[in-house]
Formats: sequence, structure tokens, C-alpha cells
Amino acid sequence: MPVIVPKDGLESLGNYDLLEKIAAVGVGSVYRGRRRATAELVAVKVMPPFRAGNELALQRFARECRILSGLNDPNIVRALDFGIEGNIPYLVMEFVDGESLGERIDREGCLPEAEAVHVIAQIARALDRAHCQGLVHRHVKPDNILLTAGGDVKLADLGLAKHVETSTQLTKTGGCLGTPNFMAPEQFRDARCVDKRCDIYALAATLYMAVTGQLPFAASNLVDCCLRKFKNDLPPPRELNPDLSERVDWAIRRAMSADPAARPASCVEFVEDLTGRSEKVPGVPKRAARADSWYVVYEDASGTSQQTSGPQQDIRRSLQEGLLGDAEKVRVSASQNGPFEPLRSLAEFRDLVVALPARPNAETEPVDQATPSPTACPTGDARETPAWLPAILAVLLGLAGFLVGLYLLAR
Ligand SMILES: Nc1ncnc2c1ncn2[C@@H]1O[C@H](COP(=O)(O)OP(=O)(O)O)[C@@H](O)[C@H]1O
Ligand SMILES: [Mg+2]
Repeated sequence: MPVIVPKDGLESLGNYDLLEKIAAVGVGSVYRGRRRATAELVAVKVMPPFRAGNELALQRFARECRILSGLNDPNIVRALDFGIEGNIPYLVMEFVDGESLGERIDREGCLPEAEAVHVIAQIARALDRAHCQGLVHRHVKPDNILLTAGGDVKLADLGLAKHVETSTQLTKTGGCLGTPNFMAPEQFRDARCVDKRCDIYALAATLYMAVTGQLPFAASNLVDCCLRKFKNDLPPPRELNPDLSERVDWAIRRAMSADPAARPASCVEFVEDLTGRSEKVPGVPKRAARADSWYVVYEDASGTSQQTSGPQQDIRRSLQEGLLGDAEKVRVSASQNGPFEPLRSLAEFRDLVVALPARPNAETEPVDQATPSPTACPTGDARETPAWLPAILAVLLGLAGFLVGLYLLAR
């Protein structure tokens, strides 16, 4: 069979006419196309034929197709078809008519806070559904979030996604692949160890850029970027955009903690952090309108258990003024009969007890006293590595893997 070389002049593949090239991508090109039989507009991601000879790249491409086909989510680009013509593999997707979040940021500098949070919350919920199926995206960044003029938001580019329980050669070879500025620090070490918390980090880094217009860790080279990530060395977003709310600033910084255990436990918890509103409140039926009345159990100075109630703002003020004793011992409920939960379980109060990662040389930063939680894989947290040499060596090893991965991908 003749080899068809994909170029701007490539006119058709399988049942699809290619109308125009819309992007030259890591694994080939993306075209706006049309299904011949129905005239439906589609996007066709085409892998160059020389890469088809690269078994690993082909497997990775096929995996993207498989994963996309298995997802049916309004906020994830839908796969329609996959084929190989000659030796050119191609993936057909729904055509998202718009621009990427990255392009929007390039054009406008930064997005209004409410809009940025709305976009990220939709992607967070889609990611949460993917996480529940055991899938990690591993490549969340502004360029992989597509926006339509009608306000639809879609996550694209699942070429690096993987199922958490599978540890394949694809993952080993592409061990450190990702985008350095948005990648979680643990991804530099060994992508086989990463879990959904790397997507939470990358999503927060994406929001950081959307609300500040600044690439996180922008001034750094690759080694610098990586070391600064391990040290939580990033200007708070409110330093770059003083109009940003304290809540969103706090939520971004928490989700970008170097220690994965210090981040929100799920994408839904990240959304809760951003909005300050719990998705589910124990004891309150899901659809019930929630009254702004909270019941609090706390210990007074003599250690006697006391109960009080009031609107959220009053309870928050009392907590901030230390009137309710040790905040770690306070339990709160939306219902008089409970169940009573620790403050960190409820988004309405979580920011008062969850410490942010300490930033080096930042005198005003709150210091996180928490003991790093044990995780299956090393976290790369600066607090675990007071001597920098092992961390630097680990980073350099990770970078070597990253470069090898890039080389293999580019072959
Ligand atoms: N389904 C789609 N609809 C419209 N444009 C798309 C679609 N998928 C990808 N693109 C365009 O192609 C670009 C690159 O696609 P992507 O899947 O992210 O490839 P890469 O692996 O190179 O990052 C996107 O940023 C977007 O501009
Ligand atoms: Mg991409």
C-alpha cells in the first residue's frame, strides 16, 4: 500500500475529508474535517507515518483513542472513530469550535476570577469522573482545555492518560513526560507513582495562569523550575493579581502543595475549596435548601464540651478570634442533631484549619506544621529532605528520564 505523507495538502483519510490543518501537535497534526456521508464537522488527529513505525508511539496513540472512546463526558472531547490508512493512524473526534484556554490567556492576559473558576470547576468535575474510573490525565494545562463561543468547556489530549492500576511499558518509557510548568513535582521523579493528585496540582497551576496571566515558574530553566516546585517556591497568585479573592488564592496554593498529601483529596474537594461551599453536607438532604445556620461543639478553657450555633460568618469570626478553643477539636454540623464533623471536612470552614505550604524566605507565610503523610511513593516534599543533595540528584535523574522520554516521543 502506498505511503501517504500527511502534510497541508493531505485531503482525506478513510471516510473523512480534511478541510484544514488546525494544529501541528506533539504526535502529528490536527485537522478540521468532515464525515463524507453526513457532512458532520469533525477533528482528525493524524499521526505521521514515520511515527507509526515506532511501536511505542503507535501504542500511545491507540491508547488515547481507547481511553477517549471509553469516556462519555460532556466536558471531555468525544472520540468518534479510529483508523489506520496506509500506515497513517488517525483519531476522529467531535470538532470543538473555539480556542484553547491557553490561546484565550495569550489574547487577553488573564480571565476574570469568576469565569476562570467556572471553567476550572467544569474541568475538575470531568476529571473527577475520570478519576472515579481509575484514569489519570497527567497532562492538564491551558492548551488542553478547549472553549467554545457558546460557553462549552472540554478537556482534550488524553495522549498521556493512564489507568492507575496498570503499569505498562508506555508509562515506563514516557516516565516523566508532561509539561514542566504545570506538572506536579512528583511527576518529575517517576510518572508510574502519580495518582489523581498530579491532575489536581496541574489544574490549580492552570487556574494560577488563568487568573494571573503568568506561567507558573516561568523565569526558571527546567532544573530551577523543578527545584522551586519541590520547595513550594512560587509567588502567591494574589501577589500578582491583588484583585483575586483570598479564597481562590488559598485554594490554588493548597492544591499546588509540593506534598501530594497536603493537596485536596479530590477534584471535587478542590472545587469546594474554590467556592467555599461543600458539595455534600452530612445530615442535609442533597436537594434541601441549606439554611445558613451552623451548630458547633467545642471545648471551653476548662475542657468542658459546649455547644453553640449561628450563621457561617459569625462562627468563622469566633473561630478566628479563638473563642471556640482549639480549632482542631471543634466539630460542626448543618443540623442540630448532627452528624458533627471536623472543620476540615466542610469547605465553609476548611481554610481556617488547613495550613498552606511554607514558602522559603517568605516571613509572612503561615508555616505548615503538619507531619508529611506517608505515601506509597516518595513525595519530593522539601520538608522531608533538609539536605538538598538527594533531592537535586533525584531531580537530575527525573530530568534525564524526561529528556529520554521526549527523545523517544520525537523519534
Ligand atoms: N477535538 C478538537 N476540536 C478542535 N480542535 C482540537 C481538537 N483536538 C485538538 N484540537 C486542537 O489541536 C491542538 C492540539 O491537540 P492536542 O490533542 O492537545 O495535541 P498535543 O498532543 O500535541 O498537545 C489543541 O490545542 C487544539 O487547538
Ligand atoms: Mg495538547
